[in-house]
Amino acid sequence: MKLIDGKIVAEAKKKVLAAAVMAMIDEGKPAPHLVAVIVGDDPASLTYVKSKEKTAHSVGMTSSTYRYPSTIRESELLQVIDFLNKDEEVDGYIVQLPLPEHLSSTRIIERINPAKDVDGFHPTNTGRMVQNLPCYLPATPYGIMQLLEYYHIETDGKHCVVLGRSQIVGTPMALLLSRKAKPGNCTVTICHSQTKNLAEITRTADILVAAIGKAEFVTADMVKEGAVVIDVGIHRIGSKEEGTQRIIGDVKFDEVSKKASWITPVPGGVGPMTIISLLTNTLKAARKEIYT
Ligand code: GUN
Repeated sequence: MKLIDGKIVAEAKKKVLAAAVMAMIDEGKPAPHLVAVIVGDDPASLTYVKSKEKTAHSVGMTSSTYRYPSTIRESELLQVIDFLNKDEEVDGYIVQLPLPEHLSSTRIIERINPAKDVDGFHPTNTGRMVQNLPCYLPATPYGIMQLLEYYHIETDGKHCVVLGRSQIVGTPMALLLSRKAKPGNCTVTICHSQTKNLAEITRTADILVAAIGKAEFVTADMVKEGAVVIDVGIHRIGSKEEGTQRIIGDVKFDEVSKKASWITPVPGGVGPMTIISLLTNTLKAARKEIYT
């Protein structure tokens, strides 16, 4: 088994990003500016946003966080979006999901200017991705594609099974892997909560992407010998107070790693690459590479 080490790849990509930011500053341009909008105080969301901010700063980007209480009205949040769309000092921004129940993430995301939608969640970016036009790719699938590319993992003609059909991971992941591209050219199956004989299908996967949101769901009996296993899950278990807290994925690493040819650990696999992809999109936004 070989480890797909997201931390090593992220460090390498950070150097490239930092050099690109430096070059912009040398040209007299401002550093790319990313804003994260966060509503409420979900601890996981706060951790993600802090981590995005820290990594943005580490490559020389400007990063701000706009925090609002979970009681904010949708009309007020839409005003924030309108403001960010107009603010010329902001190159790209994200609205951290999930949002509280009373807010429609669909309406909020539709209001984002696609040129500043560095999460790649706006329907315009999704549509452009489907049509293979320049767009911002959603960060997690984009990060996974970069991992496959970095480690020269063969994808041509492989059967890839994606567990999960979310807008954020499963659906775009399946699309990117099926594209006529390198990495790409996979035959893709999407499995979800209604899939029958799930383990039978996963056992046929040359590449298995687990984005199902269930801790240690994928066990060794569900995996083919020699498969490439990508784990998108992030689950906190144990107690912070007792010092027993740790993070696990959607894959039972100890047993699955014995069968896999390549596998991403959790933490330190897909996670670090997700932030790198977001920052890559922010750099593209600042350079006006996608929407001129
Ligand atoms: N929540 C979980 N993942 C993401 C992400 O990539 N972007 C945003 N905005 N929210 C998330």
